[in-house]
Amino acid sequence: MIGSANGTPISITGLGSYVPERVVTNAELATLVDTTDEWIMERTGIRERRIADDDEAMTDVALPACRQALERAGVDPATIDLLIVATVTPDMTFPSTAALLADTLGMPDAAAYDLSAGCTGFMYALAQAYGMLSGGLAKRALVVGGDVLSKILDWSDRSTVVLFGDGAGAVVLERVDEGGFLGFELGADGGGGVHLWLPGSGSRHFDEPENFVKMNGREVFKFATRILVQSAEALMERCGLTIDDVDVYIPHQANVRIIEHAAAKLGIDPERVVINVDRYGNTSSGSIPLALVDAQRDGRLVPGKLVLMTGMGAGLTWGSSLIEWTEEMAA
Ligand SMILES: CC(C)(COP(=O)(O)OP(=O)(O)OC[C@H]1O[C@@H](n2cnc3c(N)ncnc32)[C@H](O)[C@@H]1OP(=O)(O)O)[C@@H](O)C(=O)NCCC(=O)NCCS
Repeated sequence: MIGSANGTPISITGLGSYVPERVVTNAELATLVDTTDEWIMERTGIRERRIADDDEAMTDVALPACRQALERAGVDPATIDLLIVATVTPDMTFPSTAALLADTLGMPDAAAYDLSAGCTGFMYALAQAYGMLSGGLAKRALVVGGDVLSKILDWSDRSTVVLFGDGAGAVVLERVDEGGFLGFELGADGGGGVHLWLPGSGSRHFDEPENFVKMNGREVFKFATRILVQSAEALMERCGLTIDDVDVYIPHQANVRIIEHAAAKLGIDPERVVINVDRYGNTSSGSIPLALVDAQRDGRLVPGKLVLMTGMGAGLTWGSSLIEWTEEMAA
């Protein structure tokens, strides 16, 4: 799906994020699996990640991010009429994480549901919320992206545990006079799904004794480097703009090598790229909203700036979103 956003202007009016307290360094991982800080730094650029406690679930990680986004937008939770949570690690299959959060936050009028599109979930959720607000179905949305992937990793598998971390981000979406979202490009290739999957987790029963993430890292690497470039280029063209127009580039935070490769191919110089994978690892659906909050803290989100975000992940899925920033947000 590709489209320029021609409806009522909709923008991000508040941002929030949260990561668990516990920092796990590469050195600590090296005590669990056969790996080294040098290998992880060289292949991924990840220095440390945050890992949730045993009793911390998705709603616990998402709640502080939601509260911060609502407060920064100056929005009363009761006025939110749409809450979408992009996650592959809900507290449970049902009730949805969104329904639980809406109850805790006090949103009696909100349609609330979870959305599953792997690490691309936040991009899918933004596009859905844009469509509902712009079409007049809802007035004010809270969109959350986050995961606690540590709960579904095989902690004896060195090829996956070094990559991922836990965290969540949230944004408030509202109508604005002008600017805001300019377009979206979203896609999925179920044929490549087996390269990053959680077999045995649903109604199809495999001969899987355990329910852990499995990944073919080399195939995902090839997919990621290709799709980050393709998706961004297609969206920029659809919006009648070029990569030179992009002020802030926020790619999915999976691996520094993937990000640098995509930025170089696209022709985006490093100063325009937001990177935080070194501190958080790959937080799945949390990655792009966490990076948005980092960009805001660095004073990079200024009205009039063009922000390009591209996610990719399990599915295999991908998605890009382009927004002309509208809100004055203090660093
Ligand atoms: C996983 C990834 C970092 C591996 O890097 P790579 O350069 O492709 O490394 P390879 O898979 O070729 O493995 C090289 C060697 O390192 C070993 N290795 C794998 N993980 C290791 C680890 N944590 N520590 C030390 N050695 C490791 C492999 O077993 C392999 O050994 P071999 O040559 O004896 O078989 C890289 O493929 C990647 O980032 N892929 C994308 C993953 C991703 O982003 N997933 C989420 C998408 S949302």
